Amino acid sequence: MRKPLPLLTTHPGGRSAMTCRYRCGDACFHEVPNTSGNEYAGEVIARALARRSVLRAGAVVGAAAAGAALASGPGAAPAAAAGRGGGHGKPDGPGKPGKHGKPAKGLRFTPVAPNTADKVTVPEGYGQNVVIRWGEPILRGAPDFDPERQSAKAQAGQFGYNNDFLTLLPIRPGHHGRGGHREHGADQLLVANHEYTNEELMFAGYDPENPTREQAEIAWAAHGLSVVAVSGERRTGALRAVPRHPLNRRITATTPFEVTGPAAGSALLRTSADPRGRRVLGTLNNCSGGTTPWGTVLSGEENFNQYFANAEKVTDPERAATLKRYGIGGGATQRRWERFDSRFDLTKEPNEVHRFGWVIEIDPYDPDSTPRKHTALGRFKHEAAQPRLTRDGRAVVYMGDDERFDYFYKFVSAKRMRRGTSAADRRHNMSLLDEGTLYVAKLTGDSPAGAIDGTGTLPEDGEFDGTGRWIPLASGDRSFVEGMSAEEVYVFTRLAADKAGATKMDRPEDIEPSPRTGRVYVALTNNTDRGKPGKAGPDEANPRRNNKHGQVLEFAERGDDPSSLRFDWRLFLVCGDPEDPGTYFGGFPKEQVSPISCPDNVTFDSYGNLWLSTDGNALGTHDGLFGVATAGPRRGEVRQFLTVPTGAETCGPLVQDRRVLVAVQHPGEVDGASVERPASSWPDGPGRYVRPSVVAVWPKDGSDIGR
Ligand code: FEO
Ligand code: CA
Ligand code: CA
Repeated sequence: MRKPLPLLTTHPGGRSAMTCRYRCGDACFHEVPNTSGNEYAGEVIARALARRSVLRAGAVVGAAAAGAALASGPGAAPAAAAGRGGGHGKPDGPGKPGKHGKPAKGLRFTPVAPNTADKVTVPEGYGQNVVIRWGEPILRGAPDFDPERQSAKAQAGQFGYNNDFLTLLPIRPGHHGRGGHREHGADQLLVANHEYTNEELMFAGYDPENPTREQAEIAWAAHGLSVVAVSGERRTGALRAVPRHPLNRRITATTPFEVTGPAAGSALLRTSADPRGRRVLGTLNNCSGGTTPWGTVLSGEENFNQYFANAEKVTDPERAATLKRYGIGGGATQRRWERFDSRFDLTKEPNEVHRFGWVIEIDPYDPDSTPRKHTALGRFKHEAAQPRLTRDGRAVVYMGDDERFDYFYKFVSAKRMRRGTSAADRRHNMSLLDEGTLYVAKLTGDSPAGAIDGTGTLPEDGEFDGTGRWIPLASGDRSFVEGMSAEEVYVFTRLAADKAGATKMDRPEDIEPSPRTGRVYVALTNNTDRGKPGKAGPDEANPRRNNKHGQVLEFAERGDDPSSLRFDWRLFLVCGDPEDPGTYFGGFPKEQVSPISCPDNVTFDSYGNLWLSTDGNALGTHDGLFGVATAGPRRGEVRQFLTVPTGAETCGPLVQDRRVLVAVQHPGEVDGASVERPASSWPDGPGRYVRPSVVAVWPKDGSDIGR
C-alpha cells in the first residue's frame, strides 16, 4: 500500500535536497569550484580610472562610448530584424512601457497564478495531454512499463527517466510546415534527453547504500536520449507518441560515441578500454540542448562530476587540482556505479572522467549513426548548446557552464554549412563543429563599480548594462592560453577560461539567439554565494548579492555579426517578486508582470517572444513556463503560461504556433519521498508511479497560442 508523503517536508522554495543530490551531486552544497583570482573587468577599469586624476572625465567618456555602442546594439536590433521579415519595428529601450492595451501577440492568454497544485496548470481555454511517460515502450520488442518487474533490457527500449531538453523536427529532413508530411503514421520527430535517474523514486524498496547491479544497469539505460516519432491529432493539439517507428531510437549511458575534434585521440582521453582515445561508452547528465540548422540535435553533458568516485584518493597535485576545478571530490558516489564498472572509479581509470562534460551531436534521421562528442566546444558542465549561422554560413554555438561563478562561451566554426540534405551534405555539416575557435565571455559594466550596491538598485544611467568581449581560448591545434596546450584548453576549459580572465557569472544556463532580432538571451539561474566573504561581489552583470532569483541578460553581437569579437549587453530581467525593489522587468510596470524566479531554459515563439522555464522557484510556488515580449511597447511584460506538479521542474519548452511542449522533470522529488511514500500523484493519479513525462498544451478552440 502506498501512502502519500505529507508535504510538510517540502522546502519552502527552491529545489529539494533530493533533487540536489541526484541531479547535480549536491553542487550547491559543496565549495564553489572556481577559486581563481581573475577579477571582474569593471573593478579593474574602476581602479585604473581611480589611479588617474581624470576620474570624472574618464567616467563620462566611458558612459558615452557605451551608450553609442548600445544604440547600434540591442536597441537597434529590431530594425535589423525587420529586414528579415520581423514585425516589431518599435524602439524598445526602457522608459516607454505600454501600460494599456493588449499584451503582445502570442502572449494573449490569461496568466496562470502562482500555485502549488500537484498538476500541470494551464490557462483557461487550453487543453493538455501527456505525450509520453518514463518507461513507455518506443522500440520494437520493448515491453509495456512494469515498474515492479523492470529490467535493463526493457528500459533500453523504453522512454528514459527525467526528460529535460525537447525538440521537434520534421519527420524527414527539410520537410518543414504545418502537419504536412507523414511517414509510418508520424508527422514529427521528438528528441528528448534524460538528464539523470532518481533510484529512490524508480525502485520500490531501494537501498541507497546497497544498490543491485540490475538497478545500476536500469539506471544506465534510463540515462541518455530518446528519439520518438510523434503524431499530431488533427482535431485537437494533442500529440501522441508512435511506438516502434523505424526512426525511434534510444541512446544510453553505454551507447558507443565517437570523439571528434582537435582533442580526439589525446593522451588525456585514453583509457584501458579505449587506448586510442576516440570511442566513449555513453553520455551522462544531458541537460538542455539545441537543434542545428542542418537538422541534428546537440545536447550538453552537465553535472558529470557526480558519477566519478574516489577523487579524495588522487594524490597527484595537478590531477587533484583539475578534478577540484570540476567539482569532483569525495569517495563513493551517490549511485555507487563504481562497484559495477571500474571506469567510474578515478583510482582505477583516471582518464574516463575526461570523456564526459562535452557537447554531443546526434543524427536523429539515422538510427544506426554513431553519435559524437565534440571536443572543439570545450569541456565543462554544459547546460546547452544553441547554434546559429553567420551571414556567410559558419556555425556559431552559444554555451553556458552551469555553476556558481562560472562562465559562458561561444564557438565559431571554420567551415560553412551546406544547404542541401543529401547524405554528403549531412556528413559535411556534421563535421562543422570539429574545426573552429572557442571563446569565453568577459563583460564590463558601464556604471562605476561603486554604483552597484548589491541590492539590485539600478545605477544612475537606469540600466545594468555594458560591453563584452569574446576572448579566444583555442582554435584547432593552436592555444591562446599561456602555459596550456590546445588539448589542455579543450579538456580543462574551465582552467583556461580562468587564466583568460573571463567574467564569473551567476550560473549560466541556456543561451539562445532570438530568430527575429538576433539578440541573444542568457538565463542566469541564481547564485546565493555572490558577495559572500571570499567570493566575488556583485558587479553590473550579476548585480545582487545572495542572488536567489537570477536574471536574464540580453546581448547583441556588434554589427549583428554572430562571429563578432565584441558585444553590447544589458540585463533584460532581474527576477523575483515584483514587489521586491531589487527586481526589473525590461522597464515594464512591475505591478503588471507575473513573478518569476530562477530562469533556466530559453526558447522563442514565431513572434519573437522569449519563453523561459524555471528551475527552483525561490518564491515558494511551483516552477513554471513564462512568455515575455522582448520588443515593442510590452517589452518586459512577463506572463505565466503554466505551472508543473509538486517537486517538478519545467524543462525543454518548445513553442509552436498551435502547441506548447514541456518536459515535466522530476515530479514528486521531495525530501523523504520514495515509491512507497510518493509526494506527487502525477501524471496518473494516486496508487500509480510518479513518472517524468512530456506534456503538450494547446488552445481548445483551434487557434494559435496566445492569439
Ligand atoms: Fe540541468 Fe543547469 O540545469
Ligand atoms: Ca549601467
Ligand atoms: Ca537546465
